[in-house]
Amino acid sequence: MELISIAIDGPAAAGKSTVAKQIAKKLGIIYVDTGAMYRALTYQTLQENIDLEDEKAVMEILNKIDIRLAQDKEGQRVFINEKDVTEAVRYPDVTASVSVIAKHPLVRKKMVAAQQELAQDNSVVMDGRDIGSHVLPDADVKIFLIASVTERAKRRFEENRQKGIPADLHTLEKEIEKRDELDSTREASPLVKAEDAVELDTTSLSIDDVTNKILEICQPFI
Ligand code: C5P
Repeated sequence: MELISIAIDGPAAAGKSTVAKQIAKKLGIIYVDTGAMYRALTYQTLQENIDLEDEKAVMEILNKIDIRLAQDKEGQRVFINEKDVTEAVRYPDVTASVSVIAKHPLVRKKMVAAQQELAQDNSVVMDGRDIGSHVLPDADVKIFLIASVTERAKRRFEENRQKGIPADLHTLEKEIEKRDELDSTREASPLVKAEDAVELDTTSLSIDDVTNKILEICQPFI
């Protein structure tokens, strides 16, 4: 089989990872959650009490740790060296700081190279903010998922509740808006819809509806 690459981008909590995991399962290909890589670095930076704005110090951390994504039945687990940080990287302190870490150009350069390497020898469905526009500009399929802020906050609230992560709906809405603003306005590969991406508004669609629509778009490449 030819390799296939599917890029799924969009703002925070638009349902990218849930849908990407389902697609990966259905097609039997690898799921790469690029946000988890930025989250892992943020987690480690917070652990070491390093100034998030200090790109040089953040790069020193990135250069000394190994961030690894491992596939499992549920989707993907995230490791820093041998430590499983899958749950830890979803906690509110990491979420509140990740966009500061992700704006550093040197950080992005290294992360993007690792992501491109993963797609070189594997069929992948990769989700993030700059996959179609920057990481995999030649992806076979590019999707840009959007949904209203209210709907995205509700979904994230429910997701957090199920995981036992403390959350408040209004705070989530504010956090999502702030993260979108930072991600869209940074200089290095901001959140942007690639010109050739298909935009899907998922506000009133179920996860299965979105997955099926994307699978239809992928059909010619399977
Ligand atoms: O997708 P998720 O919400 O986990 O991403 C966390 C953060 O990581 C985003 O808000 C963004 O700042 C950063 N990110 C990015 N580029 C990507 C994926 C995530 O800048 N490709």
